[in-house]
Amino acid sequence: MKVIVTGSYDESCAVVAEMIKDLVVSKPNAKLGLATGGTPVPIYKKLIAMNEAGEVDFSAVHTVNLDEYCGLSGDNPQSYRYFMEKHLFSQVNLPQGSTHLPNGTAPDMEAEARRYEALVESLGYADLQLLGIGHNGHIGFNEPCESFPAAVHPVELTESTIQANSRLFDRVEDVPTRAITMGIGTILKARRILLIAGADKREIVEKALTGPITPWVPASVLQLHRDVTVITCGE
Ligand code: GLP
Repeated sequence: MKVIVTGSYDESCAVVAEMIKDLVVSKPNAKLGLATGGTPVPIYKKLIAMNEAGEVDFSAVHTVNLDEYCGLSGDNPQSYRYFMEKHLFSQVNLPQGSTHLPNGTAPDMEAEARRYEALVESLGYADLQLLGIGHNGHIGFNEPCESFPAAVHPVELTESTIQANSRLFDRVEDVPTRAITMGIGTILKARRILLIAGADKREIVEKALTGPITPWVPASVLQLHRDVTVITCGE
């Protein structure tokens, strides 16, 4: 595992954006595993600027996102589909149809989980998976639990995640209590993983990277992957 500590959060985002750009330049049909949350937004802004400047071309790229809330359709501003459209997809030359997320309104979530896993598999899994981390160590929506879930699956969100994510909703009661997420196995199949965390996540990042590997700290499983880079900052 490689750890990069930068001088500022903006610098961390610049490092990650450069890595994504370098991958797409060397492999124009790269498969990018993407994440939501406040953490990656500045990275997406930098990718948009690079795309506008003609430094990177997304026309042959496919994206696969980690997760989606159950019960929210893509036109709901709180959905992760909407988030991705707003912060990246609509502002770069990614073709419609090349951006993939689980469908949070599928009638049968178990079937949707199988469909999404098969889709990610058919794309050959991510060349690069971008990850944020929750304060309880969750990655995607893999919450602390008794065993590492392998494949895409529906999940009940923990109270701490609902509270943390409620900042983006009008009321805590509006936060969906269920989500559908790539499993730990799906994430680990990415060829390269970039975990980015701001200074506020220092404690959980340290616990995940240096503590015991346990599903009670889902990100700790990253210690088992052979190409993980963690980008954090001092400030
Ligand atoms: C959500 C997402 C995660 C993300 C986490 C942290 O729960 N499912 O993928 O890493 O939030 O979000 P933030 O970056 O806003 O702290």
